[in-house]
Amino acid sequence: MADKINIVILAAGKGSRLKSDIAKPLCRALERPIVDYVIQELKEFVGVTKLDAQFHIIIGHQGEKVQDHIKESAKTLNPKFTWQKEQLGTGHALMTFFEQNEEAKKNEYTLVVCADTPLITKEVFGTLYHSIKENDSQAVCATFETPSPRGYGRIQRGEVGFCIIEEKDATSDQRLIKEVNSALYIFRTDHIEKRINHLDQNNKAGEFYLTDLLKIGDNVTAELFEDANLFIGINDLYQLAEVEEIMLKKKIANLAYSGIRFIKPSTIYLSHEVSIDEGSVIGPNTFLTGKTHIGKNCVIESGCTIKDSDIDQGSLIKANTYLEGAQIGRECAIGPMARLREGSIIGDNCKLGNFVETKKVVFQKGSKASHLSYIGDAQIGEGTNLGCGFITCNYDGKNKHKTIIGNDSFIGSDTQVVAPITIGDECFVASGSTITENMPDKSFAIARQKQVTKKNYAKHFLKSK
Ligand code: UD1
Ligand code: MG
Repeated sequence: MADKINIVILAAGKGSRLKSDIAKPLCRALERPIVDYVIQELKEFVGVTKLDAQFHIIIGHQGEKVQDHIKESAKTLNPKFTWQKEQLGTGHALMTFFEQNEEAKKNEYTLVVCADTPLITKEVFGTLYHSIKENDSQAVCATFETPSPRGYGRIQRGEVGFCIIEEKDATSDQRLIKEVNSALYIFRTDHIEKRINHLDQNNKAGEFYLTDLLKIGDNVTAELFEDANLFIGINDLYQLAEVEEIMLKKKIANLAYSGIRFIKPSTIYLSHEVSIDEGSVIGPNTFLTGKTHIGKNCVIESGCTIKDSDIDQGSLIKANTYLEGAQIGRECAIGPMARLREGSIIGDNCKLGNFVETKKVVFQKGSKASHLSYIGDAQIGEGTNLGCGFITCNYDGKNKHKTIIGNDSFIGSDTQVVAPITIGDECFVASGSTITENMPDKSFAIARQKQVTKKNYAKHFLKSK
């Protein structure tokens, strides 16, 4: 029979050092709420060990928001929520939990973890679980050594067992201890039951300390982990930046191992949801954000920002291009310095060059707009060429109107089309035209003033002559 375990995630605290209006568990690293990382690793741990687990989240500060988010993001785990209205310390959080969840006392084990340590891994949980089983101990706590233990509870080891002395209560000698408490534990639930009603607030913080459940002389284990980074807690914005940097490095390393070339990786940003396929090259100072996907063998040159976009294989995104909500087909060339906004759907083999802006556009296979254009609310057929300076006049001050251009048409440079307008297949528009009337297939249009040339007349305008 699978062991039954309560998984208790502490998330009620205020996180005041973050100086943010966002509830701490919901503040984002690589654009994902930090609590989601912890839950994901726990989920995998439970899956691997085949434990019979019930997930519980202790909420308090901005509890509704935290609850709404986790209900949705961890839906499949069916998490339960415990309200800790007044936050009187980590021990009080656990007391409140057992008061509100009588049935949880029946489960053999209770794992306690903080919502604000998103670098934690399933392997760490696994090590603790094996430790408590193998040693047949009452509790196990994950510890690490750090040259700057400030703020952490210090681990005082005894002949048997250990205890944790909070920074505020430690003597100057105890403060020199470099082994500290990560605040991740697995307890036998009956050990908690035996001790929890004896917790008190007789300490410098006036709080109920969860750490007082562990005592020298008890059959309890402190498991020392080598990698202190695993336990970095997010208490301020600097730690958030530090954690994000570690996550990013790890993500880039994993992608590099799977065949993606990063040039100057320290200058590249990828969100949690970004995916890149084999053989692609990502240039320096590139920001791939949101749910962006880069297909096989693409090249993203330096300085690009690509948000919530999908780029199919073999495409080239030249330097300093900005894509947002765009979908790019195969073997396209976009940029340099192009801006494709939401709803830009670009077919295979298209070319959109420098200073081309698109929005809500379907651009079919093999079409081109090589320079200086605004193309909005438009549908451009296959093999059509939009000359330099082409503009859709789509907005009349109140409404947006649509431009439709067919296949294999040629629109000369410096042409404006006043929407709503339809230009058919195989049309030709002379450059410098302002097109206001629909054009049937295979038609030609010219719409510009006839030229007047006066011989020897320039001198009237030239200063020196
Ligand atoms: C705690 C540990 C300390 C350890 C450190 C690691 C205690 C007494 N101390 O200290 O030994 O080295 O973590 O980071 O446990 N929370 C609640 N309800 C409360 C208070 C806190 O849910 O009433 C939650 C917080 O939201 C947070 C977690 O518990 O997620 C830890 O609380 P925090 O105040 O950060 O504890 P530390 O002082 O860091
Ligand atoms: Mg803390």
